[in-house]
Amino acid sequence: MFAKAKIDAEKLNPDSTFFKETLVPTQVDSKLLFLLDNLGKLPAGFNGEVFIPLFSHPNPKIRRLAVKNVGKLKNECFLEKLKTFACNEEDSLTRREAISAIGRMRSEKAIPILTQFLTDTDPKVILQGLRALLYLKGYPGVEEALSILRDHPNEMIREHFEYEKTTKNLNVAEQNHPKSLDALKNIIICADVQETFPVIPDESVHLTFTSPPYYNARDYTIFQSYKAYLDFLTDVFKETHRITKEGRFFVLNTSPVIVPRISRAHSSKRYAIPYDMHPRLTDMGWEFIDDIIWIKPEYAAKNRNGGFFQHRKPLCYKANSVTESVMVYRKKTSKLIDWNLRQYDDETVEASKILGEYEKSNAWAINPATDKEHPAVFPTELASRVIQFRNK
Ligand SMILES: C[S@@+](CC[C@H](N)C(=O)[O-])C[C@H]1O[C@@H](n2cnc3c(N)ncnc32)[C@H](O)[C@@H]1O
Repeated sequence: MFAKAKIDAEKLNPDSTFFKETLVPTQVDSKLLFLLDNLGKLPAGFNGEVFIPLFSHPNPKIRRLAVKNVGKLKNECFLEKLKTFACNEEDSLTRREAISAIGRMRSEKAIPILTQFLTDTDPKVILQGLRALLYLKGYPGVEEALSILRDHPNEMIREHFEYEKTTKNLNVAEQNHPKSLDALKNIIICADVQETFPVIPDESVHLTFTSPPYYNARDYTIFQSYKAYLDFLTDVFKETHRITKEGRFFVLNTSPVIVPRISRAHSSKRYAIPYDMHPRLTDMGWEFIDDIIWIKPEYAAKNRNGGFFQHRKPLCYKANSVTESVMVYRKKTSKLIDWNLRQYDDETVEASKILGEYEKSNAWAINPATDKEHPAVFPTELASRVIQFRNK
């Protein structure tokens, strides 16, 4: 193998024939990969022609690195070669690297080439072309070329447009979170949630963490049907969306439930509440962020194994449910989390930092809480983690 110091020295020597002799398609793959991966920044005047024979190498990683190094040179003379390469390349990642290399030239001549990739079948290739064209926005024809993507079936491509539109049209004042009512700070309202919503202004809440009733599995709230239950939650979470500030979080704790059978001639029925609610939530404008699994100790689960344990008959296995879902959503926005953090002064952000040990995985092992009066209380630890991680 070559030493990095040797590569650096040869790179800076304009008379060196080292790369011409070593970057050849007959070279062993490992040496080629090492060399191409360790070239780093290339000096002006570096002979990029040495990479061209590798454009047809059978190993896509080598082709990709060869193209990447050509891209570093930002030299228009490689435009046609990169175009031909990108048009014929089958590996999506490598094709994207070629488009990125074309984009890095920031050349007006690249516009028709980049435009051509906006009709690619791979959305990631289109996004690469789109990103490159956005740098050339000032040139004639670019806006028009991009407009064909406005109603593209791929959601990420459409969101890119939305982002462009909103960041362009907003003035600084509009970019701040609206203020919250002082009257709503540090209070507990004991009331029917639907009666409370009308007094809560739009965009006034930073975080909602809720554990709604488990359909009719427990007796404290009874719904006429599962549909009526899902519709009730949908109405509540639409209002929650309205009162939530842009880009802030909504955390929903639910789990599939079993409604017991009415007689031995019937089966019990299991309802997949988290899965049934998820599409309704994304439809109303909540963006899915995380699926935390709350894991309880085995003793906390209802034993459903009695029959199977005795008879071991296939088809009869039932798992004891020791988990609940803690689904994390963000009010959909084109703005990044950093924008939400910038709403606060440095001192406030500093004081909210989560220091020390913390759970790194999405499996949160937390003991359930019990209460003499309520059959389904939140463990404080669960609420505390959600509030720490998802609030400033
Ligand atoms: C699964 S429990 C969750 C309790 C929660 N984890 C806690 O520790 O306070 C569901 C709760 O929702 C409450 N609830 C049901 N319908 C409601 C409504 N329309 N408005 C407000 N609360 C409601 C029930 O009384 C119950 O306390």
